[in-house]
Amino acid sequence: MKDDILPQYEVIKQNYTPEEKILLGEMRENLVDIAMSTGENYQVSEGKLLTDIRNFLYLRLSGNGPNRNISNDYLNDLSQRFLRDIVGYGEIDPLIQDDELEEIMIIGTGKPIFVYHRQYGMMKTNIHFKDEQEIRDLIDTIARQINRRIDQESPILDGRLMDGSRVNATIPPVSPDGPSLTVRKFRRDPLTIIDLINSKTISLDLAGFLWLCIDGLGVKSANAIISGGTSSGKTTTLNALSAFINPNERIITIEDTLELQIPHEHVIRMETRPPNVEGKGELTMNDLVKNSLRQRPDRIIVGEVRADEAITLFTALNTGHSGFGTLHSNDARETITRLTNEPMSVPEIMIQAINFIIMQNRIYTPSGVSFRRISEVAEVVGMEEGTVQLNKIFQWNPERDLIENVSITSSTLQQIGNLSGKTITDLQSEIENRKIVLKHMINQNIRSVDGVNSVIELYYKDPQKVLNRIILNR
Ligand SMILES: Nc1ncnc2c1ncn2[C@@H]1O[C@H](COP(=O)(O)OP(=O)(O)OP(=O)(O)O)[C@@H](O)[C@H]1O
Ligand SMILES: [Mg+2]
Repeated sequence: MKDDILPQYEVIKQNYTPEEKILLGEMRENLVDIAMSTGENYQVSEGKLLTDIRNFLYLRLSGNGPNRNISNDYLNDLSQRFLRDIVGYGEIDPLIQDDELEEIMIIGTGKPIFVYHRQYGMMKTNIHFKDEQEIRDLIDTIARQINRRIDQESPILDGRLMDGSRVNATIPPVSPDGPSLTVRKFRRDPLTIIDLINSKTISLDLAGFLWLCIDGLGVKSANAIISGGTSSGKTTTLNALSAFINPNERIITIEDTLELQIPHEHVIRMETRPPNVEGKGELTMNDLVKNSLRQRPDRIIVGEVRADEAITLFTALNTGHSGFGTLHSNDARETITRLTNEPMSVPEIMIQAINFIIMQNRIYTPSGVSFRRISEVAEVVGMEEGTVQLNKIFQWNPERDLIENVSITSSTLQQIGNLSGKTITDLQSEIENRKIVLKHMINQNIRSVDGVNSVIELYYKDPQKVLNRIILNR
């Protein structure tokens, strides 16, 4: 394996002693009994289950002889391992538990399971499935957990695991070589705007500028589409930028699978629903966007804009709501082309409601490791001869690895100035102040969702107090 081009990811397999194996078997039988007696409503809480397992093990092990000494560590460790065995995802469970993995890919029997590691890139694991039924069982377990079905008639499963990870599974006939499963791991500790500045995905200047525009000083909050290729980090950037939304706004998020983790208190999360087995009860993205308009939102966030919900979203943006969304495309112009053509079909004139197209890029290095950058921010500045006009205001310079400000004017800033009675110089100095706050968080290593959110909230409440405190601390 040493000369393999991909690094190896070693999973340490569970090795139970013969006694432990017997205990695990007994434990399983007990659980089946409990599940059967409580009927279909049997819901396991992991915490409760862990206590039950521990109690069971304690009784059984200490019952094996009066002088038997069972250490607490052993008991805790074994209970944990049993728990994972019972409620986990079998062989791939250690992969699901590892927060350093971005993606888990099962491509068939007899082939290793691949993973994408946040630090090392693509890796091969030492585990593989021997027969197709094992993969099918795993996919069926996942489908059952989310009340979906996967069979010959509907051979694709799109959904999420209990921990929030996104899954996509296929079975023949769509994947004729056998079942496949891809898991996009959910980050338990999400990347914040401070992480994105630290990793150079966004620059401090751009973050300060966007903070002011997204807030709009209460007179005009900016609308933005975050655009880019698959897995380029669109949702992550959207999520991180959402921290800048003024905490007094009422936010509604609409997604196919819940991914966004907006730190604000006042958020309503909505998720689409596929049709049931009889083909009824479907709730599309468009249904939810339409419905959200009756919920008096200030800000509508659409996870991924793809189809006819685009026109509903743009109608909302044109009638005074503000909004964010992500979209698949390769550059700013293509974003507009995609929005204005089938199946989104947004009339060009309505496109003017967005202020920024933020292009997100994933760049691969020869070693197979990738990094993410905001490659461009284009501002929508109006229409000329029936075509939307774009003005590039920030651009990533690959040589310097820096996102540079390439335009002296921003019409969004101008608008905010006009509506708030402030000069551009006033606004520039407000941006500088917000950069001081961001810089402070970087220096103090305040990077968690809660940490960042509370500083931003404080700033909204009393900016001068926050600035004074930072200056005093220097
Ligand atoms: N700036 C970043 N730095 C490091 N890792 C990142 C960054 N942005 C995203 N990631 C990681 O990359 C993966 C994909 O990110 P994300 O879901 O945001 O991409 P996406 O463009 O929305 O993907 P999709 O096309 O599937 O919607 C996630 O595991 C995420 O944690
Ligand atoms: Mg996404």
